[in-house]
Amino acid sequence: MKKSRSRWLTAGAVTAAALTLGAVALAAPSLTVPAPPAAPMTHLNNIAAVPVPAIAVLPADDTLAARADTGAETSGDRQQLLRGAYLARAGDCIACHTAKNGTAYAGGLSLASPIGTIYSTNITPDKTHGIGAWTYDDFAKLMRTGVTRAGYSVYPAMPYPSYSRLNDDDMHALYAYFMRAVPASAQANRRNGIRWPLSMRWPLAIWGKVFAPAPIAFTPPPGMDAQTARGAYLVEGLGHCGSCHTPRSATMQEKAPSDDASRLFLSGGGAIDGWTAPSLRNESGGGLAGWSDDAIVDFLRTGRNEHAASFGAMNDVVVDSMQYLSDADLHAIAKYLRSLSPHDTHAPAYAYDDTVAARMMAGAPQGAGERLYLDRCAACHRANGTGYGRAFPPLAGNPVLQTKDGTSAIHIVLSGGAQPATHAIPSALSMAPYADLLNDRQVAAVVSFIQTGWGNRGGAVSAADVARVRKTALSFDANGLSPVQKDPRHEAPGQDSRAPKMGQAD
Ligand code: HEC
Ligand code: HEC
Ligand code: HEC
Repeated sequence: MKKSRSRWLTAGAVTAAALTLGAVALAAPSLTVPAPPAAPMTHLNNIAAVPVPAIAVLPADDTLAARADTGAETSGDRQQLLRGAYLARAGDCIACHTAKNGTAYAGGLSLASPIGTIYSTNITPDKTHGIGAWTYDDFAKLMRTGVTRAGYSVYPAMPYPSYSRLNDDDMHALYAYFMRAVPASAQANRRNGIRWPLSMRWPLAIWGKVFAPAPIAFTPPPGMDAQTARGAYLVEGLGHCGSCHTPRSATMQEKAPSDDASRLFLSGGGAIDGWTAPSLRNESGGGLAGWSDDAIVDFLRTGRNEHAASFGAMNDVVVDSMQYLSDADLHAIAKYLRSLSPHDTHAPAYAYDDTVAARMMAGAPQGAGERLYLDRCAACHRANGTGYGRAFPPLAGNPVLQTKDGTSAIHIVLSGGAQPATHAIPSALSMAPYADLLNDRQVAAVVSFIQTGWGNRGGAVSAADVARVRKTALSFDANGLSPVQKDPRHEAPGQDSRAPKMGQAD
């Protein structure tokens, strides 16, 4: 399975921020601690009003769910284990807790961060190396507060602020699944490659107190219908969509945990591994304005629709998680996303402009960008920018090309890309990389053209922007390692440093 490092830079920055807060002497700028996000939520677990997914719709080809099916003793049991398997998919636990080509949930995936390498942990029910000795309360506490059975706080790479939304029934089902249906693996946890004093864990507890002040149980806003509320529950909670799609503050916490808190929620995150996660709100200028419920469902299930094709970090979300969700849940997510009012209320709606298309089709492109596009790109994306169905995505009106941030567009031209292969559409059409064919100036010219041609509103990029993406983002693609991972203090597997004493070097 292809693994992404998508969350790690963020995780590292979060960690760095946490450590700074903990007043560890760091060569980092001093930070003003902003007020925690407003969270007008109560601690009710009144999720009963929200329908749970029908178990019958689990895809038969999810072997992890099939295992849950065979481990059950009674039919109530079976329902609970299957539901747990389904929730684990919705939470995408496998993406982070499985190493490249490793045993499912046995941990060991390296997460690059600016301060060192973090390894995900074994969450199989092995009593020594996994979480087999954890009670339900231990598990629920970790999932809601980030505090482990041993009493220390985990790095916020683990998106527990989102998972704290889970209601008790779902938490029990998830626990039952991990304890009883996931096979135990005796794979030892790896020591994190973070140097003292950064390896001290106590500042993380401070981070948790300040920025994730209390577990926020999900409460649908008054008047929200059950389907939309189900979507909100999945998006804010298990789906942890905000961890990439919500902007972060200087201290790296998400600026809003939900739409009730602020319209910054899902208004577009920064770049992760050189891919920018766009706004998921119902807005122009890079958001999902103009996408129908069905288009959103298609995108989440297959990684493509008539507007765009998924790439970068989002491919893993589709492949490991979203493609397993039921139709009902995907429609609930779509409905919820479409209910989110614009954050940027001034962005004009996209309108197709055929001036450049007419020029190019008459064989008279103007400028280097248009000429390069005709030579190198038009065969697939067409001179009029409309692409070919779901095979080659349209560039005209594509939300990725409507924002000032050209990072994703530059990155995909340099690195190429492949659509995710899913159960619904196993073929993965790809675009070859141009990093070795075009220089920075040429890439800047062609990307500036696609960001502004056909009425697109993205804006020009410079050769310096291209040079920056070439230097930073491409190193992630080369071998799955980020620049910071090239010199990690890798320890032999078997040394578990997860519970260092307060203030102690690991
Ligand atoms: C974005 C990556 C990511 C996702 C998604 C994720 N985790 Fe984690 N998780 C981590 C990392 C990294 C750690 C270890 C952090 C540390 O060592 O401080 C961790 C730690 C844990 C721990 C503590 C284990 C221990 O032995 O201390 C548990 C339990 C856990 N995760 C369960 C889950 C479950 C259940 C899900 C899915 C609902 C999940 N995680 C999804 C990254 C992730
Ligand atoms: C690990 C980071 C990450 C997570 C988690 C994540 N996304 Fe994304 N998402 C991205 C990136 C990066 C893109 C831009 C690439 C693309 O368009 O495929 C993206 C693109 C999208 C798009 C296409 C938007 C467009 O304008 O083309 C949709 C829809 C989407 N994500 C929905 C979701 C939903 C719903 C969730 C939660 C269930 C989610 N994402 C979780 C990183 C993430
Ligand atoms: C062989 C056909 C082909 C050619 C030639 C090609 N592309 Fe692509 N392009 C694709 C495919 C397939 C995708 C979807 C990739 C993915 O999902 O990762 C894509 C995706 C993109 C995207 C992201 C849009 C989205 O929604 O996924 C951009 C931007 C892009 N191409 C620009 C270009 C530019 C600029 C050129 C010329 C320098 C070019 N492409 C040449 C096939 C092609």
